[in-house]
Amino acid sequence: MSIDLVLGPRPEEPGPPISGPTHYTADVEQRLTVDAATIIARYPQPRSALLPLLHLVQSEDGYVTTAGIGFCAAQLDLTDAEVAAVATFYSMYRRTPTGDYLVGVCTNTLCAIMGGDAILDTLERELGIHAGDTTTDGAITLEHIECNAACDYAPVIMINWEFFDNQTPATARQLIDQIRTGQPPHPTRGTQLCPFRDTARTLAGLAPTHEEEV
Ligand code: FES
Repeated sequence: MSIDLVLGPRPEEPGPPISGPTHYTADVEQRLTVDAATIIARYPQPRSALLPLLHLVQSEDGYVTTAGIGFCAAQLDLTDAEVAAVATFYSMYRRTPTGDYLVGVCTNTLCAIMGGDAILDTLERELGIHAGDTTTDGAITLEHIECNAACDYAPVIMINWEFFDNQTPATARQLIDQIRTGQPPHPTRGTQLCPFRDTARTLAGLAPTHEEEV
């Protein structure tokens, strides 16, 4: 008996595994190196800082680029392949440019039957894009997401990884309207929304850039 295995990204995955700019400019590299040193100092082993460092480079580019992979590898004395293997394992690390607000609709089993599929259809029509795409103004990226362990509150939407529980097509449209009018909605649980790159910086364990400038 023989078994054929097809290796590589799933056919429906957007874009190549890692793409984008290959290098940072000297000033960006210098700024990121200072931030990286702050993060790495929190861990007994430098390589343990890889996950927050990936959020750091995601906060710079809006996704994990070739430059970001190389930066993390150089900071932690890892190979590009080792960093890419981690970055492509976790779905929070994005491989295509991300809008200011990443709107994820759960279409896993319970959310789907409670209305998640209808919500995703509604938002695709409302935004004029398919799941996985970003609006031309760069404001919103729409995606479908897998179960976020919030099934009690199905169907759920996550915006920049904050929960919006018990949604309907109508309330989902309202969330989009609030984003479009510059008044991002407050999550059902959690903190006030901020743009995607600021969220990524927070996940890296750093204050949002605009707070540091105050
Ligand atoms: S199925 Fe949507 S949160 Fe579990």
